[in-house]
Amino acid sequence: MTKITIAIDGYSSCGKSTLAKALAQKLNYSYIDTGAMYRAITLFCLRNKLIDKKHHVDEEKVVKSLKKIKVDFKFNSHTKISETFLNDENIESLIRTMEVSDNVSKVSSIKEVREKMVILQREMGKNKAIVMDGRDIGTNVFPDAELKLFMTADVDIRAQRRKDEMTSHGQYFTVEEVKQNLMKRDYEDTHRKENPLTKAKDCIVLDNTDLSKEEQLEFVVKLIADMQLTREGVTG
Ligand code: DC
Repeated sequence: MTKITIAIDGYSSCGKSTLAKALAQKLNYSYIDTGAMYRAITLFCLRNKLIDKKHHVDEEKVVKSLKKIKVDFKFNSHTKISETFLNDENIESLIRTMEVSDNVSKVSSIKEVREKMVILQREMGKNKAIVMDGRDIGTNVFPDAELKLFMTADVDIRAQRRKDEMTSHGQYFTVEEVKQNLMKRDYEDTHRKENPLTKAKDCIVLDNTDLSKEEQLEFVVKLIADMQLTREGVTG
């Protein structure tokens, strides 16, 4: 089967990474969580006091610090996931906290931050056979991706799912607190100047409010199989 690029964009906590991971495993593709890259930079900023308590980001200092920041992934054959590294430190378990979530949209809106991350993302996907999720993958990182999904779901359902996930990691917040964070991020991500979250013209919208993880995977796998058939029909 021809190797393709799969771009998954959408609102916060819609299960993009759950679907992306499952798809990558099924197709034997690489999976890149681009949100983790912006979260890694946010962690660097928090540690280095480039963000104050009121969530004000010192953009100039962030931009100056970029040359000191290295973000990459290493595949953990035990957990079967690519873990995020910041300057060679495994920070996978440190980037899903509410503190990082509360500040990541601001950091990811900085032009120079995005430019640096997009270069890395394009490099990671240059040989196709990749599933990448984020906010600007189908619109900006890989505008020629063969499959572009835009994921959405009811915000209350998303907040509940995210709260359950956080609880399972020992982070306790109310559904309302989680919902406020999701709504704030969605607003900032869709309204920023640099590559905001928008639907690519040629995307397929996937609303998973009433779908299980298995059902959404089945839906996309069928979509890919149909696409491949059409392509073979056209080229064969
Ligand atoms: O997918 P996530 O929730 O972990 O992403 C965290 C934040 O990073 C999200 O609120 C916006 C930003 N982001 C982005 O601007 N562009 C991407 N391609 C991925 C994430």
